[in-house]
Amino acid sequence: METRVDEIADKIYRLCTLIPGANGAPGFTFNQFLIDADEPLLFHTGMRSLFASVSAAAGKVIDLKRLRWITYSHAEADECGSLNDWLAAAPQATAAQGRFGCAIWLNDQALRPPRALADNEVLDLGGKRVRHLSTPHVPHAVDASLLYEETTGTLFSSDLFTQLGDSPALTDKDIIEPAIAAEKAYGFTSLTPKTGPTIRRLAALAPRTIAVMHGASIAGAGTVPTLEALAGYYEDQLRQAMAG
Ligand SMILES: [Fe+2]
Ligand SMILES: [Fe+2]
Repeated sequence: METRVDEIADKIYRLCTLIPGANGAPGFTFNQFLIDADEPLLFHTGMRSLFASVSAAAGKVIDLKRLRWITYSHAEADECGSLNDWLAAAPQATAAQGRFGCAIWLNDQALRPPRALADNEVLDLGGKRVRHLSTPHVPHAVDASLLYEETTGTLFSSDLFTQLGDSPALTDKDIIEPAIAAEKAYGFTSLTPKTGPTIRRLAALAPRTIAVMHGASIAGAGTVPTLEALAGYYEDQLRQAMAG
């Protein structure tokens, strides 16, 4: 198993492991993101089975003992399955999640007491600043939240824009069509009246980079239209479901 390391924005690193699908299926990339700052932060831990490879890759960027924060979108194996392996390897690290996420999962599961974050609360990492965005059911799960790094304008979008198969770290190609194809294949996004408005809230941040958990990340002028197109897709889906 190989975990590739690419810098996708200033001192923001994508740790990427391709898991092939069974019987020739395209599989997925599983990406974690490491923000190197005075207080380094990891967004998504990956599954326990990936810990050896992903932690070795992270160790090429920082001394793991410096890792200060570990956070994730929602309670699932690829988001936080290896959380306690990371907490054991990084004695100064604290897990952080929204208040609801702490209440329903993290308070019980983390080796050490976590830090509960409010919507829009900012953690000053020293050189980087991350804003916690509470986004229930976007992409899915009631504890869902996303992260926005303000100095680089990097939005960490978790499962939004999931693309099948291998991918480059960054692309300037359209990711909407592949993302809709993956959505049609797996139906992983919770469709509620708040799906579209929540994604439009992300677009209003005007991110310069979108760091995608499964697939290529994107940077540049296409980020806002891409978010608006995704919001429009889900709004259409909801209208069709209501009409049907
Ligand atoms: Fe997920
Ligand atoms: Fe995921």
